[in-house]
Amino acid sequence: MKLLFSMGCAALFLILPCSPLPAAPEGTAGPLVGTVTPTSASIWFFASPGAKCEIFASPDAAKVFNTPLKFTPINKPVGKVVGILQTATLTDLNPDTFYHYGVKVDGETAGTLQGSFRTPPQPGTPHKFRMVLTSCMKFGQPQGSWNLLRAEKPHLHLTVGDTHYADTTDPAEQWGHHLRYRRVPEFAAVIRNIPTYAMWDDHDYGPNDSDKTARGKEQSLAGWKQFWSNPSAGTAATPGAFFKFSWGEVDFFLVDGRYHRSPDKAPDDAKKRMLGDAQFNWLLEGLKASRAKFKVIASGSTLDHSKGDGWRIYTFSRHRLFDAVKTNRINGVVYMSGDIHNSLVWQHPESTRVGYPLVEVISSGIANSGNLSFAAVDFDTTGNDPSMRVRIIMGNRKVSTDRTWKLSEISHK
Ligand SMILES: [Fe+2]
Repeated sequence: MKLLFSMGCAALFLILPCSPLPAAPEGTAGPLVGTVTPTSASIWFFASPGAKCEIFASPDAAKVFNTPLKFTPINKPVGKVVGILQTATLTDLNPDTFYHYGVKVDGETAGTLQGSFRTPPQPGTPHKFRMVLTSCMKFGQPQGSWNLLRAEKPHLHLTVGDTHYADTTDPAEQWGHHLRYRRVPEFAAVIRNIPTYAMWDDHDYGPNDSDKTARGKEQSLAGWKQFWSNPSAGTAATPGAFFKFSWGEVDFFLVDGRYHRSPDKAPDDAKKRMLGDAQFNWLLEGLKASRAKFKVIASGSTLDHSKGDGWRIYTFSRHRLFDAVKTNRINGVVYMSGDIHNSLVWQHPESTRVGYPLVEVISSGIANSGNLSFAAVDFDTTGNDPSMRVRIIMGNRKVSTDRTWKLSEISHK
């Protein structure tokens, strides 16, 4: 087996758009690094039917890659979309280790088929890491902020919806939109080099502001599971896109604010639900069981800033969540969201219900807004009082906000 790329080429991935790299075969999309654990990594790829795809990985780009691992096809073509989605899981990896990997299609690789990632440490290990938060990305809009995001060298990427604007539950339409955006060079370079976890919002779930009444939502969910490599989706008893994962001493709960959501226009009374009762109980049990220092709840919907399509008009659900954090004395809860085509960080004015300042990080419009912004969050759990630093980065490279919270500030006294 031949050496597939050099260290110099790998460095290029992190700094520059991928246009100088040799192109992947026509019709492919990905690779995308999805779920990464201390010992494994899931790689997603899309190729023509019949293409023979293999994957290689190594902790050292200067060495020959290790034994190839075959992809497993996970679906047949949908509508006019011709091609096969495939996934492979790299196993027996080492915690907190940087890896290079590559995909070969019919025996050939290319620069745009090669990427990298870093595994997290074992859960509960004190650790410093950087995550980036994004939402709202549209084909045809300026895509340069993805290069700024890569320059931050984040360990992981959370995207909380409007990952495309198909605005329908029709699977063929959704597939077309997913694939078109995955081939945007700037975005493609992000997803092949930064482990990416995704939650949908209305525009990738169904029509604008859609909810549990959306016809065809089962098809949307099936397609969503095929296009992302999240660790799971829903539970055996409760369908949905929600899931959780850990990175060091931070637990992430990605909640699905669409599949079980009461309509926005329903009366704001005790019957109105944002997550549905089963998902809320899943979240609460997860928060109560978590031993992590920080517990991030992430969703497309903002707590307050979206006046017509967020938790602001779901008072019962909002208060039930806030009150549960206080009653159960759950420390270090942080909320992250998107949707509003602007980015900011603030403390919710109803924090007295929570028992400490409830910080909300909103990141929206990295490729669909006036300021093309995103958020970078540094978690540091190595000290006696762990910290969370939030920066809001604009498309013009300016940092509009830079704030740090100590864990003791967002804990019950
Ligand atoms: Fe959006």
